[in-house]
This record gives sequence, C-alpha cells and structure tokens, in this order.
Amino acid sequence: MRLNKYIAHSGVTSRRKADELIAKGMVKVNGVTAPVGYEVRDGDIVEVSGQKIRPEKKMVYYMLNKPAGYITSREDDRGRKTVMDLIDDPEERIYPVGRLDYHTSGLLLLTNDGELANHIMHPSGIVEKTYLADVKGLFRIADAQKLRRGVDIGDRRPTAPAEIEIVRQTESVSTVMVKIHEGRNRQVRRMMEAVGHEVLQLHRTAIGNLKLGHLKVGRYRRLSEHEIRYLRNL
Ligand code: URA
Repeated sequence: MRLNKYIAHSGVTSRRKADELIAKGMVKVNGVTAPVGYEVRDGDIVEVSGQKIRPEKKMVYYMLNKPAGYITSREDDRGRKTVMDLIDDPEERIYPVGRLDYHTSGLLLLTNDGELANHIMHPSGIVEKTYLADVKGLFRIADAQKLRRGVDIGDRRPTAPAEIEIVRQTESVSTVMVKIHEGRNRQVRRMMEAVGHEVLQLHRTAIGNLKLGHLKVGRYRRLSEHEIRYLRNL
C-alpha cells in the first residue's frame, strides 16, 4: 500500500496532506525518512512526527450467491474455482463465513470480521439457515416428520429438530424447504439420505433474516448497515 494511503487509513490525515508530511520529511519508515510514493511492505514500521501509526482495519461484509461448482475457500490446491474468483479485488482480506459444499449454491457471507464470523457459525447454532433441496423421489409427510424430530446421520448425536416444509411433490422429484440451526458437515444431504432421498440440488436461501432476494447466481453485494447491525445483535 502507498505510504500516503497507509497514513490516511491510520486516521492521521487525508492522503493529500499525508504527501505534504512525507515531502516535509516528517514521515519515517523503519527509522529512515521516507520518500513520496514509497510502497509500504508487511512488517514496515511507519512513524509520523515520531509517533508510530497503523491503519485501522476496515470491516467489510459481503453476501454472495454462490454457484454450484465452486469451492468455499480462499485457495484450492487442486486448482478448482473458488468463491474468491467471483469477488473482484476486495480492498480487505476477506474470507468465507462457514462453508457451502462444492455442489451447493446460495447465500454465502464473506467478511474480514473474524469475531462476527465465529459468532454466526458457532456450533451452538444460534443462527437458523434455510435451504431449498430438490430430492429424488416422492418426499412424504412421514419423511418430514422424521426430520422434524431429528434423525441419525451417523454422528454421535441425532440431528436437532428441524423445520421442514414440502414445497412440491412428484413421484420423481420433490422440493423441500429445510431450516436448521446446526452446521454439521453435509448436514442437509445426510439428513435427506437418512430418510431415503438423494439430494439432486441444494440451495441456501437465508441465514437468519438475511435473504438472497433477487441477487443473481454468481453475483455479490455489500451488506447494508441494517443487515450488519442485525448480525451483530444475533
Ligand atoms: N448442508 C449440506 O449438505 N451442504 C451444504 O453445503 C450446506 C448444508
């Protein structure tokens, strides 16, 4: 980052005034007077008039409509596309909050606010996640009842009670809305398998009150102040 930007982000003064300070020789990097246009590197110690400064970390929050076929991770050692490929040059180092499977689409949050991310994805499951699942075969009321009560998916404990609504039923494919608080690995897919249905498509539509709305697949947007406040108050 340019030294003038670094100074401005530290809340000392504007970028233009920062250049004036640098030109006057009032800015040192690693104890040496810095030239205008200097690029600050990791580990550099910057002082303005003898005072050490550091940029404040700006918190940023995005909602992405993840397409199927993308890894929820910053990098992939197998060279597959990651959700970061969909975000153009974020000004801060953001990362995904929780995980959606490679084949799952829908609402994914990304932020650099680690505290909020941990809070939302805490295993105690404060936040409800809503999914739409297209499953193979006729999904019956009896299947819904089993999932509402909790099912054995091969873990130590059965799943916690879930909210289930059958949206569409045919002999070949059914669409089911699933609301869960837990966030176990491949949980919705494993819950459906436990009642005899293979998931054909899985899409997350909401995290708590945050909804994808009309956000197109592959697109992202910043959260509003109101949405950020909502997440902080959860
Ligand atoms: N449940 C799943 O099975 N997969 C996801 O990606 C999210 C929830």
